[in-house]
Amino acid sequence: MKSKHKIIWLNEVDSTNEEAKRHISVIDNLSVLTALSQTAGRGQRGNSWLSAPGENLTFSIVLKHEPKVKAYDQFVISEIVSLSVVDFLSSYGISARIKWPNDIYVGDRKICGILIEHSVTGDSLSSSIVGIGLNINQRNFNVTLPNPTSVFLEKGLRFNIYDMLEELMRIFRNNWYNYIDGSARHADICHSYLDLLWRKDKPYRYIDRKNECEFTGIIRGTGSFGHLIIEKEKGELEEFAFKEISYII
Ligand code: BTN
Repeated sequence: MKSKHKIIWLNEVDSTNEEAKRHISVIDNLSVLTALSQTAGRGQRGNSWLSAPGENLTFSIVLKHEPKVKAYDQFVISEIVSLSVVDFLSSYGISARIKWPNDIYVGDRKICGILIEHSVTGDSLSSSIVGIGLNINQRNFNVTLPNPTSVFLEKGLRFNIYDMLEELMRIFRNNWYNYIDGSARHADICHSYLDLLWRKDKPYRYIDRKNECEFTGIIRGTGSFGHLIIEKEKGELEEFAFKEISYII
């Protein structure tokens, strides 16, 4: 059965991902918890997510997996979420790309961060909490953030965050059900994701966290479990998990 999404607006919460986790047993599939303000918004790699109250979208989509999604297929969720955000931004005339695994960039600036947390039972995912921070109307960012942008900074216009969340959820829900019911093939989703990958097929500098050294490499695609495939200086291909590589921007 295709659930309709249900959006729950909160004034203030520590983190919408944490709030979703606390209530996961009583939350329906495709519920969205969204807050005007987060007091302890969380990012990847233990970072904080900072967002001016009421200016942006900070929300978590709860997915209760029925039918089951195999744990080794979990990267498809990142792919579908990233593609949905890119589709959404393109409807506002913003051409965005995906910085692997699931940051969304406009040029060299970050407009959206995504933090997906899964619960696994056996070899399958039982639920996923998809946390999305999308900068909409914020103009001035904390100086500690290296390269932020927002829809306002790209288009010079303010937008209604309530309407925007409805639109983004319509796009995500549609893409998600196309995957679940088999009308979108996984191979085609991967293909669309690779087409939109930031810095693909051009040489850039990276830090190899396994050996703590810098190198020049070329992103060629994604491999097993969504790991990043980089071609190194002598032409050899190497796969990196998320914590094994950093971009030099
Ligand atoms: C990142 O790029 O580091 C990921 C940022 C994810 C931020 C969102 S905002 C809504 C949800 N709640 C959180 O605490 N984090 C995610």
